[in-house]
This record gives sequence, structure tokens and C-alpha cells, in this order.
Amino acid sequence: MPYLLTPGPLTTSRGVKLAMLADWGSWDQELREVTADIRRRLLKIAGADHHECVLLQGAGSYGIEAALGSFTPAARHKTLLVINGAYGDRAVKMMTRLNRPFSVIDKGDSAKPLAAEVEKAIAADATITTVFVVHCETTSGLVNPIEEIAAVVKAKNKVFILDAMSSFGALAIDMAKLSVDVLISSANKCIEGVPGFCYVIAGRELLKASEGKSHSLALDLFDQWAYMEKTGQFRYTPPTHALVAFHQALKEHEMAGGAPGRLQRYEKNRLVLLKGMRELGFATLLPESEMGPIIQTFLTPADPAFEFQRFYDALKERGFVIYPGKITKRSSFRIGTIGQVDENVMRALLVAIREALKEMGVKNTAPAEAKE
Ligand SMILES: Cc1ncc(COP(=O)(O)O)c(C=O)c1O
Repeated sequence: MPYLLTPGPLTTSRGVKLAMLADWGSWDQELREVTADIRRRLLKIAGADHHECVLLQGAGSYGIEAALGSFTPAARHKTLLVINGAYGDRAVKMMTRLNRPFSVIDKGDSAKPLAAEVEKAIAADATITTVFVVHCETTSGLVNPIEEIAAVVKAKNKVFILDAMSSFGALAIDMAKLSVDVLISSANKCIEGVPGFCYVIAGRELLKASEGKSHSLALDLFDQWAYMEKTGQFRYTPPTHALVAFHQALKEHEMAGGAPGRLQRYEKNRLVLLKGMRELGFATLLPESEMGPIIQTFLTPADPAFEFQRFYDALKERGFVIYPGKITKRSSFRIGTIGQVDENVMRALLVAIREALKEMGVKNTAPAEAKE
């Protein structure tokens, strides 16, 4: 099977794959213990103190929509959405569907929001009670300055909702210290499990106060939490195999040094990949100082011999799956640096890229000039 160099689903360890070889009943006591231990471990990684962990079936977007539906004001007050990419745009779409009041700071798809901008927006509108930010905008790979933004949000006593989908488990997040009220991530990102569920870590009082507020039955986080507390089970069919795989992934995460250990490996992946890609002449969307360790965006070569689908196929044939671009203004492709991959995989990928370019007859990897 190829290495998945994508932002999830990603390459998992043999131990994680093996954990899925047994079948589990949803009522089983052992599965309930696994579920409880997952929740405990996630709270610990998040540096949570007065928070609760709610596991929810479905992709990460289900968790975001559940959190927005449970924790944003429905009337009179407003949520400030601080966005700079496709996942921020998706939150805007969700709020529109939910018919919840919001305002937006939109930085396009390759600039960081500044804490001062958030502070100004909050100061200018007293109806803003809640702030939503994406930690690593996986569209570009940019890591937003959540520490600075959190300080401003905390000083103004607002509710802080953080989409930490692609960063949680690798980038340090201390919910208690930063006063993050709600954090959302999913099983198939930096903890390196398989897809199947997401999780929302939310302040206990906020969660209790959300009773009856969700627009949806299946995405009601209070109901899901209350049922899980009472029975130790999911309300509806649990993602059994994804749960036991994730439990194994959490143990491996701990053994590998937790988030700092993971960050070190991903950072090394990024450095090796970038150096090699630069040597091959590729340009990156972001300057080096702005790049995160999760995913890297490369600009598509202007050379007419370069065609993304052919490039993708040639790399897949050699055992590597990469990802198309998602930014809107320039043509690009992305290579994930997360998952069970190390610098040796990055080096092997660079050899494959060199071969693929030769096979396609690409002579110049420089990108086309940016259009305004
Ligand atoms: C930052 C961020 N938010 C939200 C999502 C949505 O998650 P999913 O694709 O699992 O619905 C992703 C997916 O990669 C993401 O990176």
C-alpha cells in the first residue's frame, strides 16, 4: 500500500491496523473501558482541567458543526469567525445554514490574522460573545497565532472555539492555560488513528448550559455527553474498529513522547521535504517562517509538461499518495508531513518526484507568476 502524504486519512502504524482485526459489540464492557480511557487521555493531551471530552461519530466537520450548533449564540449575540482558508469558509457555511449571527475577519488564504485585529473587532461590536479560530489552516499549512488570539479573547471574557483538527496531538495546546473553551479534532489526524469519529473537548459549564440548544439531534453534544456519562456508550452505533485503533494510536502517541515527540518527527519531515523540493526548483506558497509542520503547499510548475493528475499517478505507482491544492488564487498541490512517516520516507518520495518529473518531461519547476 502507498504512503498517504495527505492531511488524513493518513498512514497508520502496524499496531493501529492490527487493532482492527477483532469485532466488538457496542454494549461490551471492554469497549466501554476503551471509550473511557480514550476520553481521559484526550483531556490529558489537551491540558484540560474544567473540561469534558465528547466523542462523536463522523468526520471532523461533524464535530465542527456540532460545536457551532451547541456553543454559538442563536440570537441577539454574535460569533466572530476568524478565517484564512477553506476550513474557515466551511465554518461560515455552517453558521449560515444554522442561521446563527456572525461576523467575519477574512485574511484570504495565505495570511495570518493578528491578535490586534481580533481585539479591534471585539471592541467594535459588543454583541460578539464567541470567537472561532482554525489552528492549522490545512488549506495552506499555515499555523495561526492562537496563543496571542487566546490572550485577547480571554481578556475580553469571550468564549473561544478552536478548530484544532489538523494540529491536535502535534502542536502544543494547553486548554487551561490558554482558556480555550472548546476544541475540536478527529481520529485520523495527528494522533494517527483511522477515520470514523471526531471529538469535542468543551468546558463543563458551557457544555451543561448547552442543553437543548443544538439544532440537531444526532449532533447534540450535550445529549451525547450525558448519555456517555450515564452508560459509558455512544448514543447510536459506535465506530467500534476506529475506537480500538485510536486507543492503540493513543498509547503509541504517549510512547513516542506525546505531542512534543510527534512535532519533532513532523518538523524533521518538513525540513527534509522542503530542502529536497527547493533543490528540485519547486516554490512554496508560504515563506519558510510561516510554514507549519503539518502540510506543505507547493506552487504548480508553469512548464506545460507538468500535469497534476499525471504527477499524482506517477507518484502513486511509486508508493506515495499526495494531495491536490485547495487555495483559490494560485494553482498548487500539497504534501502532508504527518502520519506514520519519517525523514526516510521523505527522502524516498524526493527520489520518486525526480523520476516522475523526468518521465513527464518537466524541465522547469518554477511556478507561473501570481495573478492579482
Ligand atoms: C482544520 C480543519 N478543519 C476541519 C476539517 C474537516 O475535517 P473532515 O474532512 O474530517 O470533515 C479539516 C480536514 O482536514 C481540517 O484540516
